[in-house]
Amino acid sequence: MHRLRIGVLTSGADCPGSNAVLRATVASAHTLGWEVLGFIGGYEGLLFPINYMPLTLENTEGITATGGTIIGTTNKGHFGATSESGEKVQIPQRILDAAKKTVLDLGLHALICIGGDNTLRAADQLFASGVPVIGVPKTIDNDLSATAWTFGFDSAVQCVVDALDRLRTTAASHKRVMVLEVMGRHSGWIALYGGFAGGADVILIPEIPFSYEHLCAHVAKRMSGGADSTLIVVAEGAAPKGGEVLTVQSTTHGEIRLGGIGARVAQEIMERTGHETRTVVLGHLQRGGAPTTQDRILGIRFGVGAVQLIQEKKFGNMVSYLNYEIGSVPIKEAIGRIKHVPPEGQIVKTAQAVGISFGV
Ligand code: F6P
Repeated sequence: MHRLRIGVLTSGADCPGSNAVLRATVASAHTLGWEVLGFIGGYEGLLFPINYMPLTLENTEGITATGGTIIGTTNKGHFGATSESGEKVQIPQRILDAAKKTVLDLGLHALICIGGDNTLRAADQLFASGVPVIGVPKTIDNDLSATAWTFGFDSAVQCVVDALDRLRTTAASHKRVMVLEVMGRHSGWIALYGGFAGGADVILIPEIPFSYEHLCAHVAKRMSGGADSTLIVVAEGAAPKGGEVLTVQSTTHGEIRLGGIGARVAQEIMERTGHETRTVVLGHLQRGGAPTTQDRILGIRFGVGAVQLIQEKKFGNMVSYLNYEIGSVPIKEAIGRIKHVPPEGQIVKTAQAVGISFGV
């Protein structure tokens, strides 16, 4: 009997839970008697020299508990479907055709593309070129509209909470202000959830442009009122009203790297209030390490869901988690719609109700 063969790749920024998706894909494909090939280094593995490895029950054993992705990834290369400034870019047809040829030559029945908005845009273009793709949403930023959660987010939030728990004791010992810069390019979900659970006093997010006057007045009032510390979480994409998002120089091509807002906030607080302030940039610690229980479970559910979509021949669709169930949405409808923190929403209001300031 003809044995079905499928391909899978992880693309874009890595994310805890990716290996859970890979393992679940392999395990559930195995029960159907399918073979799974994992392309190395994201979409690049589809191009000459083609680079893939068979994924088996044996070589994926135990990986659900591990961070990163065993088949590698990249957020650079030939499949950038988003410009540095975030606009949609058409991938050259010769690249899409070369990838399609690999899929045909290897006799792949489907290609599962695991990634964030940029990866899914590339998947959509491959689908339009005739490749039977299935999408799996992946980003620690949790900023894709078509799914309530993406795996990796919970692990990143846990990392922020752990950092705040540690910063609290050292800050309190010195009566200091601590600024923690966290990831979140377009949305403040990591800052908001991490700051909320970690007991931050101030949370600055891209969706709510802040004012240095309000922020510093709040800090000064807290410290003069007897607080032994002030913990501030700032998302890398946050900016003051009328101000620009801060970026760092990058020698590589791809998305512009954000960074620097934590140090700027600390500097303004020191200059305006005189309180000793320190900055920590949490950076890639948020993306590393083992996935939390929730991310493992979501990853497993997405992997199984992706295989089901192949069985149902729902190519061009992406698995999504909505209303406690794994469902699917057309990739075309899922891309380009950033899920922002609603500035007037319940979660922001709840944070304000317990005294958290958004710097406004
Ligand atoms: O999109 C996920 C993300 O973690 C962003 O929050 C961050 O800006 C970016 O990736 C960093 O990517 P890199 O690994 O290229 O520094």
